[in-house]
This record gives sequence, structure tokens and C-alpha cells, in this order.
Amino acid sequence: MDLREQLLKLTEIGIALSSERNVNNLLDLILAHARNFTSAEAGTLFTREGDNLRFQVTQNDVLSERLGSGNTGRFLRDKTVPITKTSLSGFTASTGEVLNIPDAYSIPSSSEYHFNDEYDRKNNYRTRSLLVVPMKKPNGEVIGVLQLINARDGKGQIVAFHGDFERLVLSMASQAAVALSNALLTLDLKQAYLDTIMRLAIAAEFRDTDTAVHIRRMSMYSAAIAEAMGYSPDGVEQILYAAPMHDIGKIGVSDRILLKPGKLTDEEFAEMKKHTTIGAAILEGAEAPVLKLSHEIALAHHEKWDGSGYPYGKKAEDIPITARIVAVADVFDALSSVRCYKPAMPFDKAVAMIKEGAGKHFDPACVTAFEKALPKITQIYREYSDETGAMHKLTGAMPVLSRP
Ligand SMILES: [Fe+2]
Ligand SMILES: [Fe+2]
Repeated sequence: MDLREQLLKLTEIGIALSSERNVNNLLDLILAHARNFTSAEAGTLFTREGDNLRFQVTQNDVLSERLGSGNTGRFLRDKTVPITKTSLSGFTASTGEVLNIPDAYSIPSSSEYHFNDEYDRKNNYRTRSLLVVPMKKPNGEVIGVLQLINARDGKGQIVAFHGDFERLVLSMASQAAVALSNALLTLDLKQAYLDTIMRLAIAAEFRDTDTAVHIRRMSMYSAAIAEAMGYSPDGVEQILYAAPMHDIGKIGVSDRILLKPGKLTDEEFAEMKKHTTIGAAILEGAEAPVLKLSHEIALAHHEKWDGSGYPYGKKAEDIPITARIVAVADVFDALSSVRCYKPAMPFDKAVAMIKEGAGKHFDPACVTAFEKALPKITQIYREYSDETGAMHKLTGAMPVLSRP
């Protein structure tokens, strides 16, 4: 590759990296591009966590050929190493310098850093050339380290990394650092957002017989149904985020009605029904797309497919699809879990009730998707069946979000 080609390639990589929002995919992509750019047979990507470096991704063409398909380095995933100048990655992380080492086993013993041959020994692998590059943000902060292993020439022979690569990979790693810190920031924001709406929803239901774990479960059921209906991962995530607010309007219903143990009178029930329109009023005019969905869900989650629901008696496709999905999830959870006024219905019986409701209470397509999603729904049901620790489970990361 001549310089022009290299620069073009770098630009392409920069664009590819900045458009990947999923952190795990991004980490894989960064390492894959860096290896491809330098013709490196293997590599490892570390991210910085305080005074440590965490192994995130390891790729190794030789080992994956030998061990079959798949990523060969996931076993390292939870390992961290302290940042000290004695290791290669630690040296780069603390000094911000690039290390270009022709042979890992010929590093003079007088040098500050040493090569750790544990990986080689464990995997019967031979590391020779190494290029260790810091992932620096524009402010100079090192947020990760790329370690590229065994450059190959055109004939497949292992050679030292060409000196030109030092600056080029350093520049690529800086772009990667920006993309990564943006993706992490987005993830943090999402997490903060989810945490906030969960707590808001819990606050609204605090006086109610419903429990915090109901909100969690029904949101996850809703997401599972949406997934089975063919929603994109983004769409599924939106439902997951929007569903918790479905009963936010209960905040405006009086305790006398909300906490009444017996059957409600007609007049009381009419008051209770207002939680839909109150919820909609709270969420009215929101700008964020997720809150717009929350709005339509809060308003329409008690509408029924046959038009016998409330508040407006809307029918079939006049009811927003999000609300039709949430209706199935909400009723299923209400049936299959304990409330202070009733025992839990057995899982299978609750499933049968949902099926029976197809075309009457529920959109038949949503019920079909519910059946298709049953393996996942069963899993959620089991995992979140106990009420103990519901609060901390609620604040944990949602399954679609995973921080590396
Ligand atoms: Fe409701
Ligand atoms: Fe509910």
C-alpha cells in the first residue's frame, strides 16, 4: 500500500468506527481493522479501568484455525492487569508511547518492560513481532491499548512491523478512542435514562398492589414479543424503555381506590380508568421518541382489540401497535404473578388465557408473537419470579445493554 492508499484506508476505517454504536461490536471492529491494516496475525485490545487494563478482545488467526471457528480470546475477557511499566501494554498505557518490537523474546533484560509469555505457553503459540499502540483521546488521555502481534509479509512470513505503521496505527487508534468514548457515553446516558424512568415508574406504583418487579417483567415480556414480531434491535430496545411508564398515571388516582382490597364500584372503576388519560397528560408533548411511545402506551394499554376497552373503546389497528404489545405483556404478568388480593395463576394457565384472548382482548398477531417468544418469556418468568431483591434487580443493567 502506498501512502495515498493508506490514508484513504485510514479515512474509511475512521468512518466505519464512528458509525458503530454498539460497544462490543466496536471493540471487535477496532481490533479487526488495526490487524487488517498492518497484516497482523493476532492482536489484543485492552481498555483502561482506573489503574488497570482490562482484556476486551483477542483475535488470533492461527489459533482460530487450530481451535475451530470463533473468537479465541474470550477466555481472557474478565482478566485485568495492573498498569505498571513492567508489562508492554502497561508501559504504553502509562507513557503513551508506541512500542515496536521485532522479537518479543529478544527484548534486552535491561529494558523497563518485559514480555509475558503466559499466553504463548498456554496456547502453544509463538509471538514474535509486536506493535503496542495507545488509544489516546484528543486530550491525551489513554483509554485503551492495542497490541498487534506477528506482522506478515506478502508471502505469509512473520516479519517486524514496518516503522511507517507506528504513526498510522497511532492515528487510527486515536480515532478509535474517540469512537469508543462516544459509544460508552451513549451507553451511560441510556443507562441513566433507563434507571430514571424505572424509578419514576416505581414511584408511581409505590402505593399500588403492583410491584416493582412487575414493571421490570412486563417491560421485558413486551420486548420479547416485539422481537418475535420482527422488530429491529433498536425497535425492541425502544419498547423495553417505553413500557415501564404504562401505569405512570396511577400517581393521580386516590389511595382510597388504588388500595381498595375489594371490588371497585362503577364510580370507583371510572376513576381508576383515568390512570390512562392522566398518564398520557403527564407524557404529553414529550420530544424524545421513547417518551412519545410511552405516551401512546400509557393512553392505550387498556384498549381491547374488539373495542371493549378503555378509555376510548378503540378497535383493532386504531390502537397503536406498541399498546397492543404491552397489553399482552401486562395482562400476562398480572395473571401469572401474586397480588395481595389474589394468588398467582399457574404459568400454563396464564398462557392459555392469553391465547383465548386473541381476537377479543388482544391483537391475534401479538398473541402469535407471544407464543413464539414463550422460551424467552419462560426464562424471564423464572429469573424474576422472586420479589426479594426486586429493587436491585430493577436497577441492574437491562439485558439488551451490555457494558464491556
Ligand atoms: Fe394500567
Ligand atoms: Fe401494569
